[in-house]
Order: sequence, then C-alpha cells, then structure tokens
Amino acid sequence: MVNLEELLRERLAVAFRAVAGTGVDPVVRRSQRADFQADGALALARALGRPPRDIATEVVGRADLADLCALVEVAGPGFINLTVSDAALGRMVAELAAGDRLGVQPPAERRRVVVDYSAPNVAKEMHVGHLRSTFIGDAAVRLLEWLGHEVVRENHIGDWGTPFGMLIEHLLDVGESEAAHELSVGDLDGFYKAARVKFDGDAESDGDTAFAERSRRRVVLLQGGDETTRRLWHTLISESEKYFMTVYERLDVKLTATDFAGESYYNDQLADVVDELDRLGLLRDSEGAKCVFPAGFAGRDGEPLPLIVRKSDGGFGYAATDLATIRHRIRNLHADRMLYVVGLPQRLHFEMVFQTAREAGWLAPPVGAEHVGFGSILGTDGKLLRSRAGVAVKLVDLVDEAVRRAEALVKEEDPAVRAEIARKVGVGAVKYADLSTERGKDYVFDFDRMLSFDGNTAPYLQYAHVRIRSIFRRGGIDAVPVLDEVALKEPAERALAIELLAFGAVVAEVARTLEFHKLAGYLYRLATAFTAFFEQCPVLRADPVTRDNRLVLCDLTARTLARGLDLLGIEVPERM
Ligand code: ARG
Repeated sequence: MVNLEELLRERLAVAFRAVAGTGVDPVVRRSQRADFQADGALALARALGRPPRDIATEVVGRADLADLCALVEVAGPGFINLTVSDAALGRMVAELAAGDRLGVQPPAERRRVVVDYSAPNVAKEMHVGHLRSTFIGDAAVRLLEWLGHEVVRENHIGDWGTPFGMLIEHLLDVGESEAAHELSVGDLDGFYKAARVKFDGDAESDGDTAFAERSRRRVVLLQGGDETTRRLWHTLISESEKYFMTVYERLDVKLTATDFAGESYYNDQLADVVDELDRLGLLRDSEGAKCVFPAGFAGRDGEPLPLIVRKSDGGFGYAATDLATIRHRIRNLHADRMLYVVGLPQRLHFEMVFQTAREAGWLAPPVGAEHVGFGSILGTDGKLLRSRAGVAVKLVDLVDEAVRRAEALVKEEDPAVRAEIARKVGVGAVKYADLSTERGKDYVFDFDRMLSFDGNTAPYLQYAHVRIRSIFRRGGIDAVPVLDEVALKEPAERALAIELLAFGAVVAEVARTLEFHKLAGYLYRLATAFTAFFEQCPVLRADPVTRDNRLVLCDLTARTLARGLDLLGIEVPERM
C-alpha cells in the first residue's frame, strides 16, 4: 500500500465511525499547516450536537496512526492536522521506487470501455473541435489502458448523409484520380468548398441548378445501393481516411486505420432500432416524424422535447445513428462504460440519447455512458479560433506551426535530432495546453504561452525530466540504488516525497472523471517540488549515503513525470 492519503483516510474513517456510530468521510486533504488535514469533524458537529473540537479530539484519541504520523493535533475550529513521520514516508517512497506502477493500484474491476473520439467528417477538414476530441479521447485511451482496462477505440467519422450526393458529383467533375489526390494530401476544405459553391452558390453567384439536381439524384442512388455510386463514395472515404491517418501519425495519437467505424456502419441497424423503440411503445408521431420524448427534457415553452429518430421524409438522422451506436456497443461490443468525447454543444443530444437508451432498457447499471464534453478554443482575440480568411483553422497547421516555433527552443545541434526534439516539444505543447485546462471551459490558443519554459506548460515539464536524466548522465550512473527506506532530512526532500506518493490517487481520480487538468496540475506541482528540491539539495556532490537517497528521489520523479506525460499522450525527449 503506497497510497498515503488513502491510508490516512482509512485509518481515520475507523476512528470517525467509532465516534459517530456511522460511516463518515474524514475529508482528508493536503494542508498548509501540516502534511495533511482531516476536516470531517466540522460536518459532524450538528448531527452529534457536539462542538467539532470535541469530536476531533476524540477521533484523534481513537485513531490508530502511530506507525504513520509523527504528530496529530486538533487545530482551529476542529481540524485534525497530520504530520507524517519521516520514517513512514521514507519507507513508502522506497516501496514506490522498487515497483514500476508508481503507486497506481489496479482497478477494483476490469471494465470494457468504448471510447468514441476524433470523429472528423469525410471530405471535410478536421477542425479544432476534432483536435480537442482527438487529444482528450487519446488521453482517456492511454490512461484507462495503462490502468488495466480493456479499451475499444471507435472513430465515428461522418461518412453518410445528403452532402455525399454533391461530393460524389464533384468527384466525377474533377476526375476520380485527381480528386483522390486532392483528398489524400489533405486539401479537404478546397474539395468540399468547391462542391458547396456549385451546389448552393456563394456571395457572388447562385449555385449550378443542374449540379444540384444531379447531386440530389446521386443521394438517391447512394441510398439505393447503386454499385458505381457506392464505389465512388468509398473512394471519398478511403482517401479521406488516408489523410486522417497522416494527421494521427503526426499527432502521435493511438488511432489506427482499423478504428474507423463511421456513421454508415450503422445503416443497416437503423430500421431495427426504430422498430424496437416502436415495439417498446416509445415512439410517437410528431409532425410526420417519428420521435421519442425521453423523460426529463422540456423546451423553453415547457413542452416535452422530441428526439427525432425518423424524419418525415423517411430518412434517419444523427440521433438514430447514435441510438444505434449505444445499442451496438452494449450488445455487440459488450461495453460496460462508454465515453463520447464530443464538444459541449452536443450535450443535449447525448443526454437525450442516453435517456432514451435507458428507457429502452439497453442502458442500465453497471453499464454507463458519459458525454465527455469540452469547450471551444479561442484565438488570442478571445473569439472562436479562425484563420485570417475567417474560416476554421486547420488543425495540422496549428501543430506544424508549434513544431516550427519549438525548434527555436532546442539547443541540440544535429539537425535530425533537433527536428525530432522539436516535434516532441511542439506537439506536446499543443496537447498540454489543451489537456491542462478544465475540459468544460473555453481556452485561448496562444503559441507564446504554451511554448514557454515558465509555468504550467509541456516544455517546462519536459525540461524538468531532461534535467533529471542529465544528472544520471553526468554522474555516469546507470543503476539506480535500491533502498529499504529513503532518508528524508530536508524539508524539500519531504515535500517531494509527499508529491511522489500522490500520483496513484490522482490517476485513479482522473480515470473516473476524465478531468485531465488534474493530472496536468499534479505534474506541475511535482516538477515544482522537484525544482525546489534540486535548488536546495545537491545530488552528485552529496556524501555517498545522501547521494543514493537523492538519486532514488530523482529517478522516481523522472519516471513519474514521464509516465504522467505519456498518459496525456506527450513524449519526453532525452535532451532539449
Ligand atoms: N462527426 C461529428 C462532428 O464532426 C462528431 C461525431 C461524434 N460521435 C458521435 N457518436 N456522435 O461533429
């Protein structure tokens, strides 16, 4: 057991239960005054009709903390301040250092988690919303996999719908091989816009009516399964997928070519989904459309909100497809946790889909579905991120620019090595800027800030890691000493040890909440604690015993930083 905070909580919980006669959360947290504090007595005062200080004093008297704490005191209105003994800390750190799990416990039960993420649209450029989904989803995949869960990646690309009539006709106009080229090299926006302009026209012109008419007929052919049309449609998809794969490789995310399971994958399940909802008595006609009215959703006028599963023209829409995804993932993929990593504007959509799935009896505990929503990315002007031409910014351009700017930060001379380091730093900076902000909030995309060596940034953390590795290089140390107990004499050593012991709890929490900014914040605190330690405690110049102790702390810090960053999808360079 190397989870210090958890250990304190458990011990105190026993004492609280004895005092209160019932289970009570001791409310343990880190403290300014001592190492930890427990605030549970405050909330109990009213229920027990006793002053909180009395309760705290009695809890302290009953708590079995002798082997862990050097000092336990009641403070203020009834806080319990806990100072962990150096010996207990030193033993736990040594135990942590001896293993390779860094204090992360295996999950109580291994779950099968389906992560729906990235999901760009065929023949359309990936935009910054897809960037966030890709980064957050990828971090979820990495973290849950490393914890020991079974993870299924689902890239629900938009590969179906009426725009495909227009896209196929445009493909024929351009010529198949030329179109395939445009798409696979990533000129998706140019392709899409050219088709749009012919279809709708633009500011200067009306659309081409003959083209629009051809496009409409093409949609019918596509839906009817016409062979040539299907083949052309497949070309659009496979060329776009090729391009998406180059982006994923560039971003170093775990999505592979076998993870594509787009909207069209569900086509032949849609009628059955609707039939099943109908048999269950969940469908109602509304203005010619077939709708579900899931409980708990009302519009501004107080009227129940419909989820349209079959449109009045007989077509199925986005909602029908997502009802199919959830049913399929539960029934066929045997998911017991489903994550939909999609921007917050789609929150209502997912809540209604989940509620419908509950009413249909598909979704029931212990199986869970979560909309892992996120905010927008803003430009430094505080508005939605746009390029100068006013269109959505291309995701790859942002990353390329970050890598280009990162080159300036790298000291390494060898051009190939330098480029590789710049890639890790640039891509890492963009990912970290995203994952270190609270998921639901908007954030400002700012190259200068994300590439700074000061503050809560990827380069700062990567540099902290490089610095530690260079201690080992300079000292010519290949084997980290193995100790039964790490001696912790200096306050900076103790503070670092306490941070190191907190990794497991943070990872467990983030696995539950997918609030990656908490992992980022933890890594930043750890790096800061290391910096303070490194300023105050010489390592290579210390006497041999102290040096061994400090090398253990250094190595454990480096491993924790590298692992934490890896869980966020960020690589650590050996040098910078
Ligand atoms: N392709 C959609 C978009 O670009 C996102 C799909 C998200 N996943 C889902 N199961 N609905 O907005």
